[in-house]
Amino acid sequence: MSTKQASDSIAVHWREEESIQPPESFVRQANMADRDIYKRMAEENFPACFDEYAKLLHWSRQWDRTLDDEHPPFYRWFVGGELNACENCLDRHLPEAAERTAFHFVPEDEQEEAVSITYGELHRRVNEFAAVLREECGLSRGDRVTLYLPMTPALPVAMLACARLGLIHSVVFSGFSGQACAERIEDSNSRVLVTIDAYRRGGKLHDHKLKADKAAEAAGQTLERCIVFRRYEGEYRSEAPMKEGRDVFADELISAHQGAEVEPERMRSEETLFLMYTSGTTGKPKGAQHSTGGYMTWAVATSKYVLDIKPEDCYWCMADIGWITGHSYIVYGPLALGTSSVLYEGAPTTPDAGRPWRIAERFGVNLFHTSPTAVRALRKADPDLPLKYDLKFRAMTTVGEPIEPEAWRWYRDTVGHGNAVITDTWWQTETGAHMLTTLPGLHAMKPGSAGPALPGIYPVIYDENGEEIPPGQGRAGNLCIRNPWPGRMLTIWGDDERFINTYYAQYNRDRDSSDWRDWPYFAGDGAMQSADGYYRILGRIDDVINVAGHRLGTKELESACLASPDVAEAAVVAVEDSVKGVVPDVYVSVRPDSDSAPDAVAGAVSDQIEQVIGPIARPRRVWVVPDMPKTRSGKIMRRILAALSAGRDPGDTSTLSNPDVVESIREHVEAT
Ligand code: WTA
Repeated sequence: MSTKQASDSIAVHWREEESIQPPESFVRQANMADRDIYKRMAEENFPACFDEYAKLLHWSRQWDRTLDDEHPPFYRWFVGGELNACENCLDRHLPEAAERTAFHFVPEDEQEEAVSITYGELHRRVNEFAAVLREECGLSRGDRVTLYLPMTPALPVAMLACARLGLIHSVVFSGFSGQACAERIEDSNSRVLVTIDAYRRGGKLHDHKLKADKAAEAAGQTLERCIVFRRYEGEYRSEAPMKEGRDVFADELISAHQGAEVEPERMRSEETLFLMYTSGTTGKPKGAQHSTGGYMTWAVATSKYVLDIKPEDCYWCMADIGWITGHSYIVYGPLALGTSSVLYEGAPTTPDAGRPWRIAERFGVNLFHTSPTAVRALRKADPDLPLKYDLKFRAMTTVGEPIEPEAWRWYRDTVGHGNAVITDTWWQTETGAHMLTTLPGLHAMKPGSAGPALPGIYPVIYDENGEEIPPGQGRAGNLCIRNPWPGRMLTIWGDDERFINTYYAQYNRDRDSSDWRDWPYFAGDGAMQSADGYYRILGRIDDVINVAGHRLGTKELESACLASPDVAEAAVVAVEDSVKGVVPDVYVSVRPDSDSAPDAVAGAVSDQIEQVIGPIARPRRVWVVPDMPKTRSGKIMRRILAALSAGRDPGDTSTLSNPDVVESIREHVEAT
């Protein structure tokens, strides 16, 4: 597979990087500077050691049992415990911090004023919207609600309102197409969609309601109601008409519930807080189903100990709430700690690459969190620019893809002015929150390596045969986590079998075993561990392409291509890109009866991908080829296409049923 090939070659070229100690000034104030944490969280204290993390939350009922592990790989954490995620994020801060800013909302257009929303104000808005969901939509505990919203305050308000009532939210990234949203509405069986008329990004006002209408129409019967926020008070900035009987403006509903107070539901720890759809190896996205108590425990503990968030900080995570990073590290973790965050609507380089630094200066941001893609893009735009600003970052984080040591050093030296500590955090939608990272007050940083495992996480690297690859061998293998941990997803929404097959079948030792030690979690990433115990992530080993930190399934992309009437077969491979890490290259062969010109087919395929999945998935190139290289059993050999895209030698083609086609594809690729 293409990405694996790329990973193997990265591994060969990598050298050991230097270690950099955190500054003494950081260590002195770090939330976690106690080395004994690793002893307390060692395997002999498992699982009771996790109580220490859970105690960071407010529980309305204390748990009786830390872990019910009788039916692996299905686990229940903090059994008997009851809590409410919204109460933990808002209510518990009110006595002391009602006037503290929860979010500084920064619109993309610099002419527009930023709006600071206090904890008290956020609490009021959440309560009113919760009243709307309960009274006007008749929703109750366990019902699903799809939130198709961009980066405006409406999104955290809607999420927290759901959490308050025990409704399960499913946030769909606003950059996804209406069709992609429809699939998620249907899979989750949501009766209500919450959306907005428009938002600004990349210098444009996007008509979002148009896309929401496509979603609502394609979702069919399931959907009854569409609640529409307004980006600008009193205005409606969409071309799409409001549909009688289905669509209703949020502010009109809210005005009937002004000042409403809604009691937070007492949720059992293992009850579901949200679904977050993510790409897998088959075309259908999987709904990662996250619990209330376990997830919140993991989000708050890692926000405190890894991100080093304190209530008096000003923190900014530049991710989108539509992904897991935004759930854990814009909404649930930071709010549970009662800090002030920036919520930025737009793109990092709009109108220019100085934008993030102007925002950081203006609000005194001292904790910064972004992706390697953003780091590469900002560096490329103007490598000296951050030095011209008065930046005071104490700690900075990256997430989502491997970061090259060069980009890492720029991030620390230029953005961090050489003072900030850097954490490179490895984790996944499935894991809920961080898994592998340095604890910034305890460990040296190493460019390009995520770091050791968090206290309480016991990883292992297995080879294809399930043999452990020990540290320091320079050999890569499959990253697995041996033990259960509180933040792990409960299951795939509606598909326990797929959950087992995707994450556990690979290394399970005995399907009937009720001992968790027989059920290592298979992450789907290649990794290697150096002699010092630090992990280096090589990338996905399955059919997933990680474009600018967005996980896209190759199968999803391929099925989008096949929706174009001329296309007979499609294959998607990853190619390296200096900014986005990797981008998709698409190969299609046309149906024999098609008489469209190749350029027209290529254009149509690109458009199709954009329409079905979204602009983030737009391919670098679409190659229209006479036939696909195939094995004798008819499987498309993507590895060969990936080599051609990268200008590499495709290697041995003798096992193909049609080796000649490789030469003709190569000529075609080279000639263009
Ligand atoms: C990749 C995002 C290298 C990895 C939180 C993983 C990383 C996938 C890192 C999950 C990192 C995430 N270094 N690779 N620090 N963090 N990844 O579900 O391949 O959107 O499996 O969650 O991103 O992507 P997801």
